[in-house]
Amino acid sequence: MKVIRDALQLQKIAFKHLKEGDEIGLVPTMGAFHNGHVSLIEKSVKNDDITIVSIFVNPIQFGPDEDYLKYPRPVKKDLEICKKNHVDYVFMPSVNDMFPKAHKTFVEVKTLQDIMCGAFRPIHFRGVATVVSKLFNISCADRAYFGMKDFQQLKIIEKMTKDLNFRTKIVPCPIVREKSGLALSSRNSYLSDEEKSLSLNISKILKEVAKEFKNKSLTAVKKKAVNKLKKIPNSKIDYAEIVSAKDLSPADKNTKKAVFAVAVWIGKTRLIDNTKMTK
Ligand code: PAJ
Repeated sequence: MKVIRDALQLQKIAFKHLKEGDEIGLVPTMGAFHNGHVSLIEKSVKNDDITIVSIFVNPIQFGPDEDYLKYPRPVKKDLEICKKNHVDYVFMPSVNDMFPKAHKTFVEVKTLQDIMCGAFRPIHFRGVATVVSKLFNISCADRAYFGMKDFQQLKIIEKMTKDLNFRTKIVPCPIVREKSGLALSSRNSYLSDEEKSLSLNISKILKEVAKEFKNKSLTAVKKKAVNKLKKIPNSKIDYAEIVSAKDLSPADKNTKKAVFAVAVWIGKTRLIDNTKMTK
């Protein structure tokens, strides 16, 4: 396994692999690995000849009052996990290499970037789309792996890939959860024991209401979930939305495949989760 810090160097290596007929898989991450990340890495190692994992806490996707500085960075442990899982290259660029002061180009996925999480984190998805575009160009990936945990992110990346004719194929990967149902997240490490036990309610509520999607109206399903979410002590709902799994448009009674997506604060930690609902 090689750790590469220079974008140009990785791009040269990637071109060489493409010339030799290798298929390249990319797993973009911000590090602080848990089994959700590992599931993406395992999928790439299985599918692709070469697996590149990027670890980069991307400053331009964090708002001014967000957790950029305190975001966990357990680099040594992350590298061990990559090695154990047979990753070929870990790309760990510096902020200055990815976004020097002179950087002026940004990728925006209109409309999709402004709803749900985007309504509360205005520059977030522009930062995500921009860094992922760079990573696609640097890695020359045939496939890139994204978790459904960040469902809106996945849809935005799919749309961007189509609109900008990237050759990279997007591979959606299922949400990995704790036994309790809590979706794994690098931000779970911010939770105290008490907050963690409160946060287990989020996935429980989603699971419960998803069962009722077949028989009840959308309004009834949403109302029930919101009422229950509101009752979690020490919590605040940013949003709870039922959207089309295809394109994030608001679900209606004809929507066959929907996603119930929520963002809920538990104390000072913002958690997102979602569940698929089918008719
Ligand atoms: P990060 O939060 O580190 O997540 C990296 C990838 O892991 C994303 O595709 C995310 O959806 C996936 N992931 C996180 N938790 C998961 C879980 N419980 N189950 C399955 N997959 C999970 O998402 C980002 O980084 C950044 O925005 C990034 C795309 C790297 C751009 O900076």
